[in-house]
Amino acid sequence: MKFDGVYEKTLLIVKPDGVQRGLVGEVVKRLETKGLKIVGLKMSALDLDKLKEHYAHHVEKPFYPELEKFMSSSPVVIVCAEGKGAVDAVRLVAGMTNAGQADGGTIRGDLAMGMCNVVHCSDSVENAKIEVERFFTVDEVFDYDKTEYLHVYMDDERE
Ligand code: PPS
Repeated sequence: MKFDGVYEKTLLIVKPDGVQRGLVGEVVKRLETKGLKIVGLKMSALDLDKLKEHYAHHVEKPFYPELEKFMSSSPVVIVCAEGKGAVDAVRLVAGMTNAGQADGGTIRGDLAMGMCNVVHCSDSVENAKIEVERFFTVDEVFDYDKTEYLHVYMDDERE
């Protein structure tokens, strides 16, 4: 497979509100301090075709025009994070979609109030694979040792 690595990979996008509000470093810091490994990171302006592909299952929904306008209002920062159970770990760190209802301690709960919710993250292992390949080329995702892993996982959790 194209993106095989030691652990699971997932995709996170710092949305335009996160970029405009200067939250990129805060978001990346929360992923790093959780113990996830950043294996890909770049800024990109998402064009309407890319957004229609990414949000294909929402294109017919009433909120789509607003979502498209929002997501194309500024460049975004796209992150590929790796770790054991990375998809669920990033979802936990991100919090509930509606930031107004997200738990304190999460990115959305701490940093936002509503549907300008700072981040997108993959919602399943299957979608994470598709989304990483949608936004990164193979040579933009890095395979490197992170010695910190010795203090993130027990021996029997490391593969
Ligand atoms: S649904 O219908 O329950 O599947 O939708 P949901 O999972 O709540 O949201 C899917 C993505 O659409 C974004 N969204 C919105 N953006 C702008 N305005 C409104 N009203 C709105 N409602 C939903 C939401 O943030 C999700 O974006 P991602 O990037 O997947 O987090």
